[in-house]
Amino acid sequence: MMSQQKPLDFLWFIPTSGDGAYLGTNDLARSADPAYLKEIGIAADRLGYSGVLIPTGVACEESFIIAASLAPVTERLKFLVAIRPGVASPAYYARLASTLDRVSNGRLLLNIVVGGSAQELAGDGIFLPHDERYDHAVEFFQVFNELLATGNSTLDGKYIKAIGAQLGFPPVQAPRPPLYFGGSSDAAIDFSAEHTDKYLTWGETPAQVGEKIERVRKAAAARGRKVSFGIRLHFIVRETDEEAWDAANRLISRLPDEAIEAARARFTKESDSVGQTRMWELHGGRRDKLEVSPNLWAGIGLVRSGAGTALVGSAKTVAARLREYQALGIDTVVASGYPHLEEAYRVSELLFPELGLGLPNHRLPVSFSKDQVFGGGGHGGNLRVVSGS
Ligand SMILES: Cc1cc2nc3c(=O)[nH]c(=O)nc-3n(C[C@H](O)[C@H](O)[C@H](O)COP(=O)(O)O)c2cc1C
Repeated sequence: MMSQQKPLDFLWFIPTSGDGAYLGTNDLARSADPAYLKEIGIAADRLGYSGVLIPTGVACEESFIIAASLAPVTERLKFLVAIRPGVASPAYYARLASTLDRVSNGRLLLNIVVGGSAQELAGDGIFLPHDERYDHAVEFFQVFNELLATGNSTLDGKYIKAIGAQLGFPPVQAPRPPLYFGGSSDAAIDFSAEHTDKYLTWGETPAQVGEKIERVRKAAAARGRKVSFGIRLHFIVRETDEEAWDAANRLISRLPDEAIEAARARFTKESDSVGQTRMWELHGGRRDKLEVSPNLWAGIGLVRSGAGTALVGSAKTVAARLREYQALGIDTVVASGYPHLEEAYRVSELLFPELGLGLPNHRLPVSFSKDQVFGGGGHGGNLRVVSGS
């Protein structure tokens, strides 16, 4: 029962590569205009999300810069900012992270992204094979963590050479902001068990998620450590199950077959990410078998890289599905939905009450009138009477 479970930590997503209403087309598409991203951040903050994930990639606006633009316009919102080891030195990333934690008064969370496309990584100057990227990340975070904790670090490593590195200003969060991480390969799981605080999985079926959680737990316990768990999912929540399924089908209603075939090539040939392969295998590119587990819909993964599944249904249905993940050990949800501004409202207004989440509806006193209802009167406020202005 939900009442016996701790409330989920519920984050939203900033779509820094663009947004839209129909996957795989430009119909009603929105660009990642920084002012629009700010609107989403402000909404997420006001609606009671605890934070936002800000991704990284060649198609994304830069994660640290976007977080810095959101910090002054939000009050509580935390920023789960993607950090890609090797794109910059650990000393420079330590300066970025410390300053952002200070600018936001301790609201920085970091999401370690080792990368899953050799082609994209080569563009960033990283030429390591899959498993060695994790060895590189170990050395990177040795220097990064030491700098944030003490202000000094030296490492003459195989991948990282930082001699007499220094950091002038400590982060607000001591010894450093929390480290989140997602990756499904054996190398990724070993890395997470040893070096990270929270393991994130894309939204696979409960059986698959349960199996991964067990693997990470065991690997962490063997090192005398504990890691907590989060899930990255899209949400299509409506007042009824039927409306939600209609919305899911509408999202892919203009998706051309060629877009799916192009995605197949990207995800199965160009990517070496085990996590991405697992996402693709949920549907295999077929449109007719998209409900891969009750209310878990893989339609988004037909073309979107990374998180490709959504929980679809009424708020009650979706809350019940979330409780199943929670029972497996998930304590954090990183959510999104298309378009991200409207769906941030839908999820908070419909789903949060079911989950015991969210801020009180009004943080300021509402009115002197005790029986005020929406549309109940006032200038322009009565929905039933058409007024002249
Ligand atoms: C919640 C979550 C968020 C991720 N965010 C990003 C991202 O912003 N950019 C990116 O390139 N990869 C992202 N990834 C992918 C992984 O960080 C990594 O690139 C790769 O998939 C790991 O490969 P592996 O599963 O083979 O170990 C994310 C993964 C998860 C689970």
